[in-house]
Amino acid sequence: MSDRPATTPTETGLHAAQRRTDADAPMLRAIDVRKTYRLGRVNVPVLRGASMDVQRGEWVAILGASGSGKSTLLHLLGGLDRPDAPPGGGEIRFEGTGLRDMSRRALDQYRRRRVGFIFQFYHLLPELNVMENTLLSAMAAHSMGAYAANRGGLRARAESLLGAFGLAERLRHRPAELSGGERQRVAIARALMNEPDVLLADEPTGNLDRKTGDAILDRVAALRGETGQTIVMVTHDEEVARRADRVVRLEDGVVVRG
Ligand SMILES: Nc1ncnc2c1ncn2[C@@H]1O[C@H](COP(=O)(O)OP(=O)(O)OP(=O)(O)O)[C@@H](O)[C@H]1O
Ligand SMILES: [Mg+2]
Repeated sequence: MSDRPATTPTETGLHAAQRRTDADAPMLRAIDVRKTYRLGRVNVPVLRGASMDVQRGEWVAILGASGSGKSTLLHLLGGLDRPDAPPGGGEIRFEGTGLRDMSRRALDQYRRRRVGFIFQFYHLLPELNVMENTLLSAMAAHSMGAYAANRGGLRARAESLLGAFGLAERLRHRPAELSGGERQRVAIARALMNEPDVLLADEPTGNLDRKTGDAILDRVAALRGETGQTIVMVTHDEEVARRADRVVRLEDGVVVRG
């Protein structure tokens, strides 16, 4: 990327020194992040210096009013969008490395393999069925050859996840042939397909009734118990937030403690 400084031997040394401390660094950090949308000539500041740390294995809930910037912050954490340009935009770091400092390839790997993203509005592909939508994240994370070699195992995993989320009878349905809650569950299965280190979940149970939502969160919690997954979950539901180890709130563009 053009705004990346050229690496000098001195900087390489610095990076090596930095790496030594990475084991102690929080897994995921937002440092003084600013995000301003531009609508025509109007600037819409949404994040105004938001900072948060997420430790490895932690489950953090982000609460905040509608429009407070929760989805925006989650997209930045997942490398799907970038903070305002430097200087002043702040930064997102994963395991001690700034996303802005990553090569395009490393950032792609981060998005595809390390992070599982559950979108608020699902983003399922309309022409693919439930099974294919779920397998899509595995396709993105593997090379063609590796995907082909593991196809059977990956299909079995997708089927097992979808079954766990009550979708065993819906594998061949396309998104338009599903209820809103069923679409949401496909989006969750897809995000978990690659056993991501970090699950970034945007209102993952927002469209589910309490009983179904609780069952899904029980399943997510059980998977996390097995894998030690880190979870950042946006919700407007205090009861859902109570499942997290820690709750933070987004207010006036900054993160305040829960
Ligand atoms: N692409 C965009 N261009 C301009 N403004 C945007 C854009 N995306 C979001 N916004 C504005 O940024 C603010 C924060 O949006 P965001 O989606 O992050 O809120 P949220 O906290 O997730 O809300 P909700 O709880 O309703 O999902 C909103 O006021 C929204 O209108
Ligand atoms: Mg949102």
